[in-house]
Amino acid sequence: MELNKLKNLMDSMTLEEKIGQLVQLSGEFFDADDMAVGPKQKLGISQETIDLCGSVLNVVGAKKVVQIQKSYLEKSRHKIPLLFMADIIYGYKTIYPIPLALGCSWNPQMVKQCNRFTSREASAAGAHVTFAPMVDLVRDPRWGRCMESTGEDPYLNGVFAKAMVEGFQGTFEPKESIASCVKHFAAYGAGEGGREYNTVDMSKRRLFQDYLPGYQRAVEAGCEMVMTSFNTVDGIPSSANENLLRNILRDEWNFDGVVIADYAAIQELIAHGVAEDDAQAASLAMKAGVDIDMKTPCYSNHLKDLISDGKLQEDLVDQSVWRILKLKNKLGLFEDPFRGASEENEAKNLCNATHMQMSRQAARESMVLLQNENQVLPIEAGKKIALLGPYANSQDLIGLWAVHGDRNQVISLKTAFEEEKDRNEFAWTRGCEVLDDYSVLGDFGFYQNSEKALTKEEKLEEVKKAIELAKWADVVVFALGEHLLQSGEAGSRTQLNIPDNQMDFLDQILPYVKQSVVLLFNGRPLVLTDLAKKVDAMMECWFPGSQGGHAIVDLLFHKANPSGRLTMSFPYTTGQIPIYYNSYNTGRPMATSIHSNRFMSRYLDAPNEAFYPFGFGLSYHNCEYSKLSLSNTVMQPKQTIQVTVEVTNISDVRGEEVVQLYIRDLVGSVVRPIKELKGFQKITLDPKESKQVIFELNEKMLEFYTADMSYQAEEGKFEVYIGKDSTTQNKEIFVLRK
Ligand code: BGC
Repeated sequence: MELNKLKNLMDSMTLEEKIGQLVQLSGEFFDADDMAVGPKQKLGISQETIDLCGSVLNVVGAKKVVQIQKSYLEKSRHKIPLLFMADIIYGYKTIYPIPLALGCSWNPQMVKQCNRFTSREASAAGAHVTFAPMVDLVRDPRWGRCMESTGEDPYLNGVFAKAMVEGFQGTFEPKESIASCVKHFAAYGAGEGGREYNTVDMSKRRLFQDYLPGYQRAVEAGCEMVMTSFNTVDGIPSSANENLLRNILRDEWNFDGVVIADYAAIQELIAHGVAEDDAQAASLAMKAGVDIDMKTPCYSNHLKDLISDGKLQEDLVDQSVWRILKLKNKLGLFEDPFRGASEENEAKNLCNATHMQMSRQAARESMVLLQNENQVLPIEAGKKIALLGPYANSQDLIGLWAVHGDRNQVISLKTAFEEEKDRNEFAWTRGCEVLDDYSVLGDFGFYQNSEKALTKEEKLEEVKKAIELAKWADVVVFALGEHLLQSGEAGSRTQLNIPDNQMDFLDQILPYVKQSVVLLFNGRPLVLTDLAKKVDAMMECWFPGSQGGHAIVDLLFHKANPSGRLTMSFPYTTGQIPIYYNSYNTGRPMATSIHSNRFMSRYLDAPNEAFYPFGFGLSYHNCEYSKLSLSNTVMQPKQTIQVTVEVTNISDVRGEEVVQLYIRDLVGSVVRPIKELKGFQKITLDPKESKQVIFELNEKMLEFYTADMSYQAEEGKFEVYIGKDSTTQNKEIFVLRK
């Protein structure tokens, strides 16, 4: 629709109709309750609110969406279509690896392609907007939602934010694209103690330097929507935070799209203690710049009175409505309110072979080989394999936030092994359950625990059977991990271990094992210090998605070579948390302090470093880095320096290498991180092949928030490092002169 027509349409709407556009309700109000993910709430809203509501939360499926849209439009005076928004986080029916895993692929192009395919599936099923990507920077693995982030690095998160938004949105072709809503603005990943929904309090510098860039990159990539976070930022909850939503988002970043409050976040302003009642909460959120109220009665029941009482300007409502109408228009909903949603398109797209193939590739690229003692991996042909553990034959490989994922399509490990090995070379048993006690997990709306609990006798039987299999096998593959409800939203933990009952099981079996491989399924970095001592090999599989079983078997038997590299540090112990590679040196650094060894920045009982650092991962090949050189040791304004390194595959197997470039600004007007990722390239090397890898460094890449908070590079010395992970000491020095 032409914009002037859209404007006329808006001008012809009553205030009630306009307010309706700002209200989002979930499926239960439209007789479609099955996808509810949040807590159930009694909203106390009128039928009129339902009839006028502008968008729907988490209802998908062509048949349902078309039917709801049709009957809504029949009753509607202006025929303004509903917007259907949903949590389509890492796949719709075809599920890709969780975002933390996708980050470990260091392959943004591939991730973009995954999202393109997700958009196809989701638009066939009637979704218009996805609540993704989540780009919250996270340095605390106690927080369950690290599974939804690409990790601890601002630069890398920004690269993935852009790729993910572009993947979802494309050029807004119907049937191919959906609009993207970046979340959770802002700094939701920094809750104190890693506890869900907890207070966030940090310096302005840290906020701007580390936490905001991910959202900003998504906005620059053109994402249409932004979701507020549940937490406070500088003492004010995000959904009432004018500085965040107006000054930073709209004025500084020129964001022109729609802002939505996270689930019930407007009403939660009362619990936060910044609003007395729903009316005040509505007023604060509207003034701060929240356009859509997700799932509370605050806007629907109070905006009108606030305006007639002169407490709120109608113009604010108009601005919000205009943004929402523009989005509906951009999606082409006025021309086609169903936008390609049809059962026919679903049949063509959902879990089709191309998407499944993509999922398999993504899973292979995102797993991280953590340990490979005695080169037990890859597993040699002809070896007898026993597969043991609660993830041996599980559909839970898709992880928690695969809200709509098709569990029947998930390839379990057992299935994949059986396709690969003859009966006389492969056997499996579950061995033990994921947890001994599921009651702590609470419920999670759509997710039903499919695990059948074992009786006491069955448990003993399982251990007996596992011991027999271990004795028979040449290699025992243990499939262990967190319960999928132990990560994701409201999945905070203080102990980052493999559940005790699984460790007990492992200890009972290990004495009978010749070679041991542990496959790990989890949504966050774990403390693996003890486990690493007990077993030969460990591979971090995360929650790998629909094709998880196939991808793992591909890697175990060397049909593919592991190339994933961690994007979050794995601690030695939870007491080290928060732990991240790009920390500051302090005045008394361990490595170089002039003080005696007690009076340094250190723990008495643990190292400072991570057990597995950022950027780390093993492969079946091995590379050497040499001849690091700079085209110039002085960088003048507007000039670039070429940084070159030679990477040689010294092994006999082909492999993919993630070449990582870090810098360190040695002296600044404020302290600077000991290393900062500034570039990476994923290259393929044949056996014994050498490649020159070249990076361009420019002044822009050296910028930061200086003492006066201006964003610029400062003159002086810089170190530039290139290596295989963040601990590399392979460096050169250059000077920036301005
Ligand atoms: C989550 C969001 C999600 C929303 C809608 C909230 O609880 O924090 O990430 O998009 O629910 O389901």
